[in-house]
Amino acid sequence: MQSKLPNVGTTIFTTMSQLALEHGAINLSQGFPNFMPDQQLIKLAKEAVSSQKNQYAPLAGLPGLRQKLVEKIQRLHNKCYDWESEITITAGATQAIFTAISALVHPKDEVIVFKPAYDCYEPAVELFGGKVRQVQLTAPDYAIPWEKVKDVVSEKTKLIIINTPHNPSGYVWTKDDFKALKAVVKNTSAYILSDEVYEYMVFDGKRHISICEDEELADRSIITCSFGKTYHVTGWKLGYAVAAKPIMAEFRKVHQYNVFCVNHPLQYALSQLLEDSSHYLQLSDFYQNKRDYFLKLVKDSKFNFLPTQGTYFQMADYTGISDLPDTEFCLELIKKHKLAAIPISVFNQKNLQQGFIRFCFAKTDETLEKAAEIINKL
Ligand SMILES: Cc1ncc(COP(=O)(O)O)c(C=O)c1O
Repeated sequence: MQSKLPNVGTTIFTTMSQLALEHGAINLSQGFPNFMPDQQLIKLAKEAVSSQKNQYAPLAGLPGLRQKLVEKIQRLHNKCYDWESEITITAGATQAIFTAISALVHPKDEVIVFKPAYDCYEPAVELFGGKVRQVQLTAPDYAIPWEKVKDVVSEKTKLIIINTPHNPSGYVWTKDDFKALKAVVKNTSAYILSDEVYEYMVFDGKRHISICEDEELADRSIITCSFGKTYHVTGWKLGYAVAAKPIMAEFRKVHQYNVFCVNHPLQYALSQLLEDSSHYLQLSDFYQNKRDYFLKLVKDSKFNFLPTQGTYFQMADYTGISDLPDTEFCLELIKKHKLAAIPISVFNQKNLQQGFIRFCFAKTDETLEKAAEIINKL
């Protein structure tokens, strides 16, 4: 059979999580919390499935949920979106990203992707005949190399995919980054897909700047967000996309035949919980405490850690421990030491080795303590 994605295999997350299970390893690889979500959310979800909320939702999502989301965006980012025509609830950010790419990318269009990149961007671009132009970020800060970006952006650029806070490095875009982006796209017709799933996990007094805060950039952007990340419910696979009306109209043309609509009762539960902003407003403090606790536990290890700026991932320089390529080092970590992490090279251009692996600290203190015990012995 002729594959449409000949170079795609099993994702590193599946591989590492499976190996972690097989070897009874502590799993700091895949990005999901191993603690319970808010009890109130569970209660609301139970109520919703026990009531009249079990049939199809409206195509774009529940009106109440969309209204609360646009109000929140207005409050936090001072941008006014129309809840009827500019926001759509999706099956996680993954579906929002796939649908956005399918709606915007035509055969031979160029799409710029910053590496290391979350793994669902490029296969979607390839499926729709687009050509990926990679821009490699450099360790240890993984800031955006604007000179390199200028070299690859041209009239062929249809889409630039950005991700702030960035998985895996935790890099958080600054005002200057957005200024530079604005200058780079000025005389092009490029759209921007801004993946902001870690929007509420930004540390050390930094603030998440959404692309929608700049009116000109907002007009050419589609933003993707994830309830899974924000409410510790990655298994619910719910998220949303926000964009100016002409972009959202094209997005919905695909969405209606892709899924038509997404989980109705859980949308209802989330819309009720959104009445209370404290859940997402306290998330940065919650995860900063986790990051700091983890870093305190491993401060005497042979890894080198630069405290992550955002997300629930911590990069670790392992070159003081091993000369192995990062994937082999991670396999050894699982098999010999019973600890699972993610090698960064799998997200890099030509699998570039940078001497870094990624730990997820969205875990209970007990799990972090057990992981630290292993890390400190290496
Ligand atoms: C950068 C990034 N974008 C998108 C996603 C997917 O989000 P969701 O689980 O809502 O599909 C993830 C999940 O790990 C991610 O790290």
